[in-house]
Amino acid sequence: MPQAGDEFFQSKDFHPWSRVKDQILASYVTAYLAKISKRQADIILIDAFAGPGVTEDGEPGSPLIIIGAAERLAKGRYTAYFVNKKRKHHRKLKSILEYRGLAHSAIAVLDDGPTYLSTIAQDLGRESVLLYVDPYGLNCAFGYLEPFLNRSRAYSTDLLINLQIPAAHRLAAKNATNNGKCVTDRLSSGLERLTRAFGGDYWKEFIYSDEKPNIREKLLADEYKRRLASTGYLTYTGVCPIQEYRGGATKYYLIFASRHPDAMVICNDAMCKSVNEYLYHQEMGETLFSDISWKDWRDTSELDRVVVRYVETFPGRTRKDLWLPIIQDNFMNFTESEYKKSVSALVNSGEIICTTPIGSPQRKTKRLNDNCVLEPRS
Ligand SMILES: C[S@@+](CC[C@H](N)C(=O)[O-])C[C@H]1O[C@@H](n2cnc3c(N)ncnc32)[C@H](O)[C@@H]1O
Repeated sequence: MPQAGDEFFQSKDFHPWSRVKDQILASYVTAYLAKISKRQADIILIDAFAGPGVTEDGEPGSPLIIIGAAERLAKGRYTAYFVNKKRKHHRKLKSILEYRGLAHSAIAVLDDGPTYLSTIAQDLGRESVLLYVDPYGLNCAFGYLEPFLNRSRAYSTDLLINLQIPAAHRLAAKNATNNGKCVTDRLSSGLERLTRAFGGDYWKEFIYSDEKPNIREKLLADEYKRRLASTGYLTYTGVCPIQEYRGGATKYYLIFASRHPDAMVICNDAMCKSVNEYLYHQEMGETLFSDISWKDWRDTSELDRVVVRYVETFPGRTRKDLWLPIIQDNFMNFTESEYKKSVSALVNSGEIICTTPIGSPQRKTKRLNDNCVLEPRS
């Protein structure tokens, strides 16, 4: 008999926006493992709310996405833990892992995801850790993430969290509690759940404000992200709102936190591409334009202005080093390939200057590369 939550795993056609998070996860894990597998440290991958591994119509979920990348890029170097509280999901995933001969490095765990995080956090040593947290609703208390925010800075930790902030509106019961002023016993458990999920009652300032729901949510996501970075360890963070369609309500906020700037570069591209591609297909559907790439519709004139402004603010930086502050301030607005094209066009038109001589070790040909130094027009 179908149980609560089972419909999520029937088919992603019923919630196609969840493919955006899958795509972002796939891009992130792939780029992450390609880099991290060059280091000495063992790699631990944790999916704290794993699900059964595939939907009933055969589409892979996060465990298979993670393992696919890990087997390609870090075979024999990683251990992955996939946690399920639901026995049915655990059994299905376990049998998939056994059938594929992966059970030695990919372990299905039957446990409460957050409790398991507390256990594994105690056993961590020098390993590089990637943690994926994808619960239904707001069911992972911030406190369970804290051990990962307090690891030694010598070690690598990356978090990717699906924070379903829209669920906060129902739990906060804005109208029924008169902005949190009249809380009955019946409503108090929802409020307490929110305080646990966000790691403090600061959520009230945002959820009970008079802003539009999506603005309240984004501000809350930004504050959550700031708290992930607040220990001074995972200081590279970003928020990706995932909508059902452009201008529609946001379904998920995917948030990453890392100590490495490369994660920012990877996530900016993965999130910008996956979201725009999905929204474009939602808009164009079966129209004549559906064969044209979403990239062909992008207006990058704003990017040109941004690049000129950042070259003026940070004269003498290389093309690579200028990109990081641009994406920190304009997260998900532009892709790296758009940036590179913009830099080339601006150098060709003389609006900015490349001072790295052609034929030098840093620039063998006329073509610009990441090491090229950029200066404003004098
Ligand atoms: C949103 S789904 C995860 C989907 C999965 N990431 C994927 O891509 O297929 C949440 C999963 O977590 C499971 N779950 C719910 N509460 C849990 C808990 N406390 N501990 C571990 N798993 C839990 C649910 O049964 C479900 O399988």
